[in-house]
Order: sequence, then C-alpha cells, then structure tokens
Amino acid sequence: MEKQEDRRPHRLVLVLFPLQGHTTPMLQLGSLLYSRGFSITIAHTSFNPPNPINHPHFHFLLLPDKTHYSLNSGTPKIKDLESINLNCQAPLKEFLELQKQRTYSQVAGVIHDSLMYFAAAVANDYKIPSLVLRTSSAAFAQTYVALPRLLAEGSLVFEDSMLHELVPQLNPLRFKDLPVSRENMEVTLKLMDILRNSKSSSALIINTLDCFEQLPLFQLRQHFQVPIFGIGPLSRMASASSTSFLEEEASCIAWLNTQAPKSVLYISKGSLAMSDEKELREIAWGLVNSEQPFLWVVRPGSVSGSDWTESLPQGFIEHVGERGLIVKWAPQKEVLAHCAVGGFWTHCGWNSVMESLSEGVPMICSPQFFDQKVNARYITHTWKVGLELEGELERGDIERSIRKLVAGTEGVEIRQRAIEWKQMIDVSILEGGSTYNALNDLTEFLLTNKI
Ligand code: UDX
Repeated sequence: MEKQEDRRPHRLVLVLFPLQGHTTPMLQLGSLLYSRGFSITIAHTSFNPPNPINHPHFHFLLLPDKTHYSLNSGTPKIKDLESINLNCQAPLKEFLELQKQRTYSQVAGVIHDSLMYFAAAVANDYKIPSLVLRTSSAAFAQTYVALPRLLAEGSLVFEDSMLHELVPQLNPLRFKDLPVSRENMEVTLKLMDILRNSKSSSALIINTLDCFEQLPLFQLRQHFQVPIFGIGPLSRMASASSTSFLEEEASCIAWLNTQAPKSVLYISKGSLAMSDEKELREIAWGLVNSEQPFLWVVRPGSVSGSDWTESLPQGFIEHVGERGLIVKWAPQKEVLAHCAVGGFWTHCGWNSVMESLSEGVPMICSPQFFDQKVNARYITHTWKVGLELEGELERGDIERSIRKLVAGTEGVEIRQRAIEWKQMIDVSILEGGSTYNALNDLTEFLLTNKI
C-alpha cells in the first residue's frame, strides 16, 4: 500500500553519495524538509545503502550501479566517480518519468550531493530545479573557487619553504592547508570542475551557518549568483535517527555515565582516515601518560596491517583499566552531547566539526586529507576552539595536548570559547536565527521556484 506521505503534493528527490560523511547530512536535510511538508525520496546506490528502518517516512529509490568502488580510501578515484555518475542516470530518469504521470504530486526539486553531478543534468531535462548539497564547509568551497586563479598565477606549484605562508586572498589558510595533492592534480582539477558546474544549479545548500563562515559565504554568494542557503549544523536540527553504516556501540554511554563531568577525551578519525601501527602505539602511550579518561573509536580495518587493535602495546588495556574504553564505532552525536566529555581529538571531518561545535566541545585537530586541513585551520585560528596536533604523532606531544585541552589552565580560554560558539549555534536555530531563516527561505524557494 502507498504510504500516506506519498500523497503530499510536493516531492523532493535527494541523491546520496555513498560515503558516511556525505550520506549523514543528506539524510538529516531530508528529515528537516520532511518536517516542512515535503515527501522525500532518497535515491541511493547499492554500495553503502541507508537503512530504511531508521527512516520510515522516506521513500527509497535504488540506483543500481555496478561500480567497484575504491571510495573508502578518502578522496574517490576519478574513474569511480565518473562511473557512478554515468550508471545512475538512467534509473533516475526512469523515476522522474513515472513521477510526471502522477496527478496529485509533483517533484519540486532534486537535491544532490555535489559529487553526484549527473542528477543536475537529469533534473534539467525534466525542467525540475536542481540544488547542490555541499557536505563540507563554505571555506572549503571557497578554496576551490580560488584554485583556478592560483593555478593561473603558478602558485599551486609551491616550494616546501612556502608551506607556512598565507595564501593570498584566502586568509587564514596557509599553502599547507590547501586541499591540493601536488602529486595528483587530476583529482583537484576534477573537483574544481564539479564546483564550477554548480553555477548552473538553481541553488546551493551548505551545512554551515552564517556566524561561523560569514566571509566565505559572502564570497561564494558573489561568485555563484544563485541562492546559497547556509543551513547548519544539520546534525543539530534533524531527528536523532541513526545514519551510521556501522553498528553503534551504545554501551559506551553507560561507561560515560561513570566518568566525572568534562573529564573524558573522545577520539575518532571518522569513517575514512587511516593510521599505521606505529601511530596507534604512540596514541596509546600518549593516552596512558596523559592520565585522562578516554573513549577511543578504532574502526575495524583502520590500522594498516591489523584487523583491529592487535598492534596496541602489550598490557595497554590492563594498564588503563576502567580509565579508558575502545569501541569500533560510537553513537558520536550522543557521545559529544554527554556531560562527561571534555574534549574531542578529531581528524576534522566537517560533520565531526559541526557536531563538536554544536555541543561546545573543544578539539585537538589531526587533519589528514581533503577538506580536513581547511577545517583544522578555522578551528585553531579563526574560531580558536582547538589545538593543532599535526604531522607524525609522538607520545610526548599527544600527552601535552590532551592535558592542555581537557584539564590544564592553558586550555581555559579554548574551553570557554567553545561554549560561546555553542551558544551562537543555539541562537541561530531558534526562530529568527540565521539557520532558522535559511531553512524557511529554502522551503519557500522549493515551493515557488520553477525553471
Ligand atoms: C568525509 C571527510 O573526511 C570529511 O572531511 C568530509 O567533510 C565528509 O566526508 P568522514 O571522514 O567520515 O567524512 O568524517 P565526518 O565528516 O566527520 O563524518 C563522520 C560521521 O560519522 C560523523 O557524522 C560522525 O558523527 C559519525 N561517526 C564517526 C559516528 O557516528 N561514530 C563514530 O564512531 C565515528
């Protein structure tokens, strides 16, 4: 039987890119727009599909796709990206064709992940507005807008001696923060192209908020000349349904309940970043020596050469005892909202950053790739809510950073600022706040915009 909500007059098709950090914010946006009265169809590949049980109000559309992915390696390979975008076209067309025949409902928009750019062309063929959801920050998009200029000026071929210099017109970013791989410019150029093509979309949605990224948002609006809705943190506004691909170990919440307020360091590198065995050992010793309680997510397969935690130093678990807990995957939003958590050692994926800022949790930043260095720079330099711990990790530096962030007097200002930024977020999602208004504007746009 057809679901009741399928008879709502306005349907939105949301096209997911099959990585955790991309799927989560799109599903969150779907929940918000569902609560605004739209029917939601989630179009997804067979790789990393969302779990329909967690989203009973959505309708799901499988885009059968035979790509053999190398996606779980951070930045997707160009050939995979192109293959997904090619394979998914026909099934989306077929779906929109069927929708045309429905008299009681119309597709008001196709909202697609920036990496699922095929959807814009398909929507355009059907004269349906297409909107891009960018799951990373506005500052990150701004760097891609600046790359053609930097490329033309020859600034992207820079000496190591320039790594710490500021990039002209991209303050506060340094050359080392730019999301370019000097060895693999092909990916950079492809992503630059994808962003450039967003210009022909009807609008952009960015999981951010004005008070955090005023300047990058202003510059993007000038550049794109289409509406840009800063609606974030999506994690803060959307329903609590799980969007995790891996099973969340809820038992860690009971352990957190036994810890003192603001004492625990939470450690997670998101869904893609990897460690090697040496790094795992340095982290372990750093944690032991810091004497601070910790909750550590070690994703299975995330330590090269190990299945899970086999390469931890002998006796580590016994030594730490009740003071530490290692899990495979945590209910991160719940963890960060827990009163026992006093700091987050993060790889600086944008979702993690937004989730941490939303709860006023200060951060230790160990970025690895893609947008993470840009995010880390904003955390440590612009919002000043975190410490940088970059390069080869060493137990002494780790110990000092943890002590400083969670307990030391040196970290007092950082901890205080984290609370102040959280309060700004609290205000932005209330009636009249920037995110609240942007969501209203987006709803209005979707109900009235025609192409
Ligand atoms: C990737 C990129 O790394 C990121 O920089 C980009 O902006 C989006 O794609 P990822 O590396 O997975 O994402 O990091 P992040 O953006 O932080 O997303 C991870 C998500 O997994 C977060 O929503 C986080 O709450 C969740 N998570 C992580 C869990 O629920 N449990 C965990 O144990 C770890």
